[in-house]
Amino acid sequence: MRNILVTGGAGFIGSNFIRYMLDRHKEYRIINVDSLTYAGNLENLKDIVDNPSYTFIKVDIRDRDKIDSIFSNYAIDTVVNFAAESHVDRSIVEPEVFLTTNIIGTQVLLDMVKKHWKVNPEDKYCKEYKKGVKFLHVSTDEVYGALGKKGMFVETMPLLPNNPYSASKASADLVVRAYHETFGMPINITRCSNNYGPYQFPEKLIPLMINNCLNDKDLPVYGDGMQIRDWLHVVDHCAAIDTVLHKGIDGEVYNIGGNNEKANIDIVKLIIHTLEKSESLIKYVKDRPGHDRRYAIDNTKITTQLGWEPRYTFEQGMEETIRWYLDNTDWIKNVVSGNYMKYYEEMYSGIDEVAAGK
Ligand code: NAD
Ligand code: DAU
Repeated sequence: MRNILVTGGAGFIGSNFIRYMLDRHKEYRIINVDSLTYAGNLENLKDIVDNPSYTFIKVDIRDRDKIDSIFSNYAIDTVVNFAAESHVDRSIVEPEVFLTTNIIGTQVLLDMVKKHWKVNPEDKYCKEYKKGVKFLHVSTDEVYGALGKKGMFVETMPLLPNNPYSASKASADLVVRAYHETFGMPINITRCSNNYGPYQFPEKLIPLMINNCLNDKDLPVYGDGMQIRDWLHVVDHCAAIDTVLHKGIDGEVYNIGGNNEKANIDIVKLIIHTLEKSESLIKYVKDRPGHDRRYAIDNTKITTQLGWEPRYTFEQGMEETIRWYLDNTDWIKNVVSGNYMKYYEEMYSGIDEVAAGK
């Protein structure tokens, strides 16, 4: 039995991760805490809401008292921290919430881990923790900054973030690392490349382009469209996190990537052709300020030391993903119209804690 606190589980990767874990680990209990920002959508988890091993609690990770009581009430022994403001464009317009959620929110979780898992929390020299506990912090390849035409990110590189989002994620990484060094906390940090797959909010490149294509709307390509990202199917990311939870060495950082570098414009064209639309929909627009030119992940450490590797090819993953958005037009419509925000009210009005069977 393991009691896993998943933060940000109503978002894109968190909801995929909860489904992935409940499918594979029947003996685990998942406690999903999410404040349901614009990016949190409980419809992502509609199919598992009655699973007796799943509980949802609406809470902000910056709320120290509530997080404290959740650690006590649910005997949490594992944390997977997805909760974050995650969209670079929003961080350029409104950076503050990125700093408070991504950095302070993480620190609140770390403090609760220290309080509840340290064998002697009052002793500042004590570095001994209860058996089998783990804090896994989900970070991003963006913390390394941008690459030129050659080279790849490796875990030992200095962090050189270029936008407020990546700066907040890099700061959180350093705080997590510091809690390991100072307090001996059993942590891992994972740094993954760009994810794609079902339930991604249509502000991100792939779902935005699919949705606009389906509605014959312009496809806004920033700058020259030649920026490069490494793309990984979200289920491969979930499998990597599961692997690190079970096999990761305390204190270590693991890069996660798909060996799959693509220029943005090629992805946009792939979507256009798959949906049998015209390239005339492409509209080159002003570039994103501070836009990182290229990301590429060296995933040697996790593949050789922990035995994880990506299973999806990009072709298969994109075909399935586009098919998912075609089959789930109501999901997209609800998100774009804002109706998804009413789902929580309709389902759970007046209750903040929703445990199946309660
Ligand atoms: P997302 O924006 O889809 O989901 C974030 C979730 O966090 C939402 O459900 C939101 O309601 C919740 N949240 C935000 N602020 C909160 C707060 N203060 N308290 C509680 N919940 C809060 O993001 P995502 O794409 O699923 O990313 C999840 C994590 O993975 C993030 O930490 C992100 O930095 C990281 N990551 C994302 C990618 C990617 O390509 N999407 C790649 C690498 C790493
Ligand atoms: O690398 C991991 C990161 O990937 C995660 O940490 C972030 O949470 C996630 O949002 C993502 O960041 P990006 O900035 O790479 O993702 P986004 O989907 O916003 O953009 C991908 C690329 O596409 C980027 O080069 C900007 C470009 N773009 C994006 C949008 C939304 C466009 O050209 N047009 C667009 O409309």
